[in-house]
Amino acid sequence: MLRRSFVRSLFGAFVLVIFGAKSRRSRAASPYEFRHGIASGDPLENGFIIWTRISGSAGESVSVDWEVASDAAMSDVLQVGSSTSDSSRDYTVKVDVTDLPSGKKFYYRFVVDGVRSPIGVARTLPTGSIDFARFAVVSCASYPTGYFHVYREIAARDDIDAVIHLGDYIYEYGLGEYATEDAEELNRVPDPVTEVTTLADYRRRHAQYKTDPDAQAMHAAHPMIAVWDDHEISNDSWRGGSDNHNEHEGRWSRRRKEAIQAYFEWMPIRGEARGKKTRIFREFRYGELLSLIMLDTRMVGRDEQPKLSTDMSDDTIDRVLNDRKRRMLGRKQERWLRKSLERARGTTWQVIGQQVLLSTMKSADLEPLLDLDRPSSLSRELLDYSIEMSKSNRPLLLDTWDGYAAARQDLLADLQKLASNPVVISGDLHTSIAGNLHLKGEEKPVAVEYMTTAVTSPGFSDYLPERHPGALRDATLQLNPNLRYMETDRRGWLCLTLTASECTGEWHLLDSVKSREYSSTMDCRLSVAAGKISNGLYKS
Ligand SMILES: [Fe+2]
Repeated sequence: MLRRSFVRSLFGAFVLVIFGAKSRRSRAASPYEFRHGIASGDPLENGFIIWTRISGSAGESVSVDWEVASDAAMSDVLQVGSSTSDSSRDYTVKVDVTDLPSGKKFYYRFVVDGVRSPIGVARTLPTGSIDFARFAVVSCASYPTGYFHVYREIAARDDIDAVIHLGDYIYEYGLGEYATEDAEELNRVPDPVTEVTTLADYRRRHAQYKTDPDAQAMHAAHPMIAVWDDHEISNDSWRGGSDNHNEHEGRWSRRRKEAIQAYFEWMPIRGEARGKKTRIFREFRYGELLSLIMLDTRMVGRDEQPKLSTDMSDDTIDRVLNDRKRRMLGRKQERWLRKSLERARGTTWQVIGQQVLLSTMKSADLEPLLDLDRPSSLSRELLDYSIEMSKSNRPLLLDTWDGYAAARQDLLADLQKLASNPVVISGDLHTSIAGNLHLKGEEKPVAVEYMTTAVTSPGFSDYLPERHPGALRDATLQLNPNLRYMETDRRGWLCLTLTASECTGEWHLLDSVKSREYSSTMDCRLSVAAGKISNGLYKS
């Protein structure tokens, strides 16, 4: 849908760069700048969100004009408007543009005090019958860990309807904490340099990520549909706390509220932060082809992750993991999801965008796989615990749906009952995975899952000192026949294409995020046929 030829796209990019650069130079006298780029997101049939941030205010509120045009040179302007911003929203500007025709590509820019922003691309959702839709699916972009080459790759594509960001758009850590070992060498030291815990901190961190040229290019080139995962607030967060929040950092409710406020200011997402009532679960319809249903598995309803210990009996562990009271989405969101699936009935595909692994993943016995004489960034204590727990082939990752087994069973039962062709997309694990999703004890799958790896964040093989490369992957795939693909070493993105007959995921993986030079290869392609979900994924 909405394809343009590669040559036209190159011309568009040329116009965008030259026009943008020239216009920025033309009013050097103004104090204002667009240092954090522009973005569009949350498309509707008749509109979308456009976003920017004004730098250079000395404390006064700033009036900003915006325009939407049908062409890259901004000569056929369809709509203009103005908006003001001030310190109460960190000089970010978010406009909900409406009254536009459906299924079209548009161009937009902002103007402040005669200074023009770069020009970006936005789209309205199509209606009726469409041939195909294509999405770039990403997650887990730790700025200090590496370059955002993945974003650059996506920016260069001219056949993407939207970028779906499944969270960990920012990370909260300071220098010396998680995945910051190379930050100084890469000139990507986190700002602020310490862990972010307050509104001012989170704003600064978002601002740093949006100075990245590859992030700016991706946002300018495509609309984004984003949900948060844990690190937009704090590691392994749930509605009442987080693994990485302690009492010296103040009250959890304050930190959560401030992190969410900064997210709503700095992301091209519709609406405003509303404290504990903030909702990011929402739906998008691409004509009769698909409904995209985005969920919040973190903040709105998640109960605390279960904790297992090596001295628990098998029965106790089973009881803990299958506790019906432990929910992932919360009852309210579960009810909304059922209604959303009913609304999606007229569409061929129901794509569920959510943060964490839904497939079951039992752990292979780690003892023969790991070489404990080699260094690991995991503590010896955690490695010993993991090895001990893995001996009985339990799931080890209890922040995923494996820690919420009863809630998962309910979700899969809802998908079986209410969805015709459900496809789940996920992230968070920094690993490429595909799997068939089964109700407990049933042989035929009721849905399939495509998991995108990280943009930069380190994967399993960066932590676990394997005796042989690929040993952990091979043993995991052997023990979990529901999983059809796994790649733990390389960072990248998932390209998801849907047609009336097939849904296809392609994993595009990079050989490095630590050097400026890199290459990208398509590592795997798996499809599922419409009307034949119970046949599961196949190589295509
Ligand atoms: Fe992550």
